[in-house]
Amino acid sequence: MKVDVQLTINGQPAQFRVEPTERLVDTLRERAGLTGTKEGCGVGECGACSVLLDGKLVSSCLVLTVAAHGCRVDTVEGLARDGRLNDLQRAFIEEGAVQCGYCTPGMLMAAEYLLGRYARPTTEQIRQAISGNLCRCTGYRKIVSAIRKTARQRAARRTGR
Ligand code: FES
Ligand code: FES
Repeated sequence: MKVDVQLTINGQPAQFRVEPTERLVDTLRERAGLTGTKEGCGVGECGACSVLLDGKLVSSCLVLTVAAHGCRVDTVEGLARDGRLNDLQRAFIEEGAVQCGYCTPGMLMAAEYLLGRYARPTTEQIRQAISGNLCRCTGYRKIVSAIRKTARQRAARRTGR
């Protein structure tokens, strides 16, 4: 028996009729057409499918869509504004933190989650924040640099410097 589920995805209301076993990653990719969210492992180990669910970082491969009923879901597609990449996305490109790009959407969401909680995270906090997101290409150092750079830029904007 299918179930009606209402979500707010990147600020837009959305409604789906899903099987109780359907995973959020599939709803996002196959029904909502938001293929920025990737599936790597499907068992909660790689972080490629990371999204924010009511502001908390989750692996969308581990969340049943019915369990997200009434929730806000933020995906990588919601980061850009008016067709322009946000500062974190630009920093990833500028710092060379993107190679094949498969981990990037999940990495960006983990980074946004961190930056939402800590205005000036330490390198250790950045490493910890992305420790659930696997990248087989970059060696992580440039990803950490990009996140640190964004934190610095946002702090400077806040203080007007
Ligand atoms: S696909 Fe969800 S954690 Fe790997
Ligand atoms: S850039 Fe290829 S997996 Fe991270």
